[in-house]
Amino acid sequence: MDKFIIQGPTPLKGTIPISGSKNAALPLMAASLLGDSPSTLNLIPRLKDIYTFGKVISETGAGLQFFEDENRMVIDPATIHSYEAPYDLVRQMRASFYMMGALIGRAGEAKVSLPGGCAWGPRPVDLHLKGFEKMGIQIDLDQGYVHGSIKKNRVEGGVFKLNPSSVGATINLVLGAVKRAKKFIIENAAMEPDVVLLCKMLQKMGADIEGVGTDCLTIRKVEKLNGVTFSNDPDRIETGTFMIAAALHPDSEITLTGCKPEDLGKFPKSFRKLGVETRIDGKNIYIRSVKKINPVSVTTKIYPGFPTDLQAQWATLMTQAEGFSKVTDTIYFDRFSYVPELNRLGANLSIDKNSVSIKGKTALQGAKVMSTDLRASVSLVMAALVAEGQSDILRVYHLDRGYEQLEVKLNNVGASIQRVPE
Ligand code: EPZ
Repeated sequence: MDKFIIQGPTPLKGTIPISGSKNAALPLMAASLLGDSPSTLNLIPRLKDIYTFGKVISETGAGLQFFEDENRMVIDPATIHSYEAPYDLVRQMRASFYMMGALIGRAGEAKVSLPGGCAWGPRPVDLHLKGFEKMGIQIDLDQGYVHGSIKKNRVEGGVFKLNPSSVGATINLVLGAVKRAKKFIIENAAMEPDVVLLCKMLQKMGADIEGVGTDCLTIRKVEKLNGVTFSNDPDRIETGTFMIAAALHPDSEITLTGCKPEDLGKFPKSFRKLGVETRIDGKNIYIRSVKKINPVSVTTKIYPGFPTDLQAQWATLMTQAEGFSKVTDTIYFDRFSYVPELNRLGANLSIDKNSVSIKGKTALQGAKVMSTDLRASVSLVMAALVAEGQSDILRVYHLDRGYEQLEVKLNNVGASIQRVPE
């Protein structure tokens, strides 16, 4: 396992390119399995989760080539001969559960391991399973595996309301319905850009989906889907993460390139309240920090609200704001494993139910801290960038799941991060 040794504090000055979106790429890879011919996906990031999902897809016999230097992936479903996603891979990455929808959509059957929990608690898939059953898919649970199959040769579909709205369940049910359900309506569907992009790719393949971009999706079965060439979106969470990193140190001045600002939803509205100079110009976002950052309390919401995936990073930023603030997560009620680690660096955070209260401005001192999950890890890296002295961030494999070349991008703009074996 690797760790990062970070010397701080360092201002960040220069340009950071944004990579393709992890959470949008995974559903596009799954959708490729529904085509009768190969699909080519562009802007696919070199991330651990992408490689893991690639292994899950290759297990079925599908052809998969990842031209890493060009961030281009070609998936050929013609050679699929197995409809199973094994436990030892699914437990590594929850989104592997998308194989349920992809394999039911393609072959009318699937045997997929239930995903494990994750660093911050159980993450159920009950909505996925109830949605498939409502669609008319037979769902059986056996020794930790979910078997999906079509008993009668017709899948009538129906109306299924998600409660709560779920990104993964929306994605899985769309994948399962496009080639199978006579007519399936998903109410309170997730509207995240990851869902919109998947629907656009499926429409290009020939799928019949109405309501794309709204919280009500109507899918009507089509007999055939064709492979396509399709481009992934830039990563909106990576974009938000680097915008926050650029605000941390008063002397930082950063330009983010290759962004898709419209995918940030209401995040820029909260960001502007910091009092940091922010300019959005096409695909570029320019940030120049200031001496005093305003405390800004946020509450996470489903899209287009403040993303839960930026909650930990925002808490780190608020340690440098002049005054008290509060971060509340309404999506996950216990996603605060980073708090004790940030406090080891000298922050002053306290948790109360699904909120963390932050006292700013606190001078941070370098220390040894432990990464626990993807977004918590990056919030510790950001804190180390402004902490006085050396910080050791352990178990950075969490970061490698979701941030392409993080230390390279940050060192290119003035950070001092060494990756060493732990
Ligand atoms: C996706 O996870 C993202 N992962 C997560 O990003 C993100 O935090 C989450 O959406 C919320 O935006 C990927 O896209 C691969 P949900 P997902 O189903 O689909 C509950 C990251 O850091 N729920 O929208 O698993 C669930 O417990 C990751 O990149 C059920 O109760 O999230 C949660 O409270 C972390 N039953 C809420 O819904 C279900 O069957 C939202 O979860 C499914 C979900």
